[in-house]
Amino acid sequence: MSNSERVVLVLGGAGIVGSGIVKALLDKGFRVAVISRDSGRLEKLRSFVSPDTREQLTTMVGNVGSEEEAEQAKQALLKEVGKVTDVVSSLGFSWWQGGPPHTQSLKDLHWVIDTLLYSTFVSWKTFFPLVRDDPERTYTFITGGAGEKLLMPGTGFLTVGAASALAFCQVLREEYPELPCKLNQVRIDAGVASPDRMTPGYLNHLDLGQAVAALVERRNASHKVVNVTSADDLKTVIQDKAL
Ligand SMILES: NC(=O)c1ccc[n+]([C@@H]2O[C@H](COP(=O)([O-])OP(=O)(O)OC[C@H]3O[C@@H](n4cnc5c(N)ncnc54)[C@H](OP(=O)(O)O)[C@@H]3O)[C@@H](O)[C@H]2O)c1
Repeated sequence: MSNSERVVLVLGGAGIVGSGIVKALLDKGFRVAVISRDSGRLEKLRSFVSPDTREQLTTMVGNVGSEEEAEQAKQALLKEVGKVTDVVSSLGFSWWQGGPPHTQSLKDLHWVIDTLLYSTFVSWKTFFPLVRDDPERTYTFITGGAGEKLLMPGTGFLTVGAASALAFCQVLREEYPELPCKLNQVRIDAGVASPDRMTPGYLNHLDLGQAVAALVERRNASHKVVNVTSADDLKTVIQDKAL
């Protein structure tokens, strides 16, 4: 199956990390679909990708964090693009520094878990059946290293949310050790930003996108965690030395 025959659904494709992945996939000749709750973000995404690839991008308003709406979005998407061969899941939020736990409410914690874990679970349950039984199909999770340590004071709920996403990916690897499709995880232990917002130590979302697109294109391994902490790690992935 050539890239132009593959349709990659990028969950969270309108976000900072996701948009870099969408652009890189389109530049490699894939067809790409993105579902977002915000039509304005989808418009921004359409103007961000290379103009000559825009026709290969399908965008749709929807909420993949709700069981009912995710199912509706799936049906609408299949009607429009026919099939989904690959999924990249990059759901969540970029940054959270709301303060130490004693200053937070249960509602704050709900929001964090909702955004990082529940949306990841619900969308996986909805879209995974589309790729599960085919060795030529892939499902790739994007996660953050924040789940293993406190990044700085006041970011505790970010750690709780990111840790729950890391644990979910681990559970999937162990619960489903034998799967026809390629199930992988990219664990990013660094900040990610667009070129105009780069600060030292951050990864450019365009470079990260190219690395993730290379993994999706190769689909030569499964049940792997690809650790990324630096731009050099991204080069290693692109040159096929990471797996
Ligand atoms: N940015 C970083 O520095 C960084 C570093 C390491 C790891 N990561 C990881 O990368 C992932 C994405 O982060 P990001 O920086 O790209 O965040 P972002 O810019 O806030 O984008 C997150 C995306 O998730 C989507 N989303 C969340 N809940 C959703 C729901 N219920 N239904 C549909 N879409 C939903 C948002 O969709 P809408 O368009 O609908 O709002 C948004 O497009 C996270 O898991 C994060 O842990 C990020």
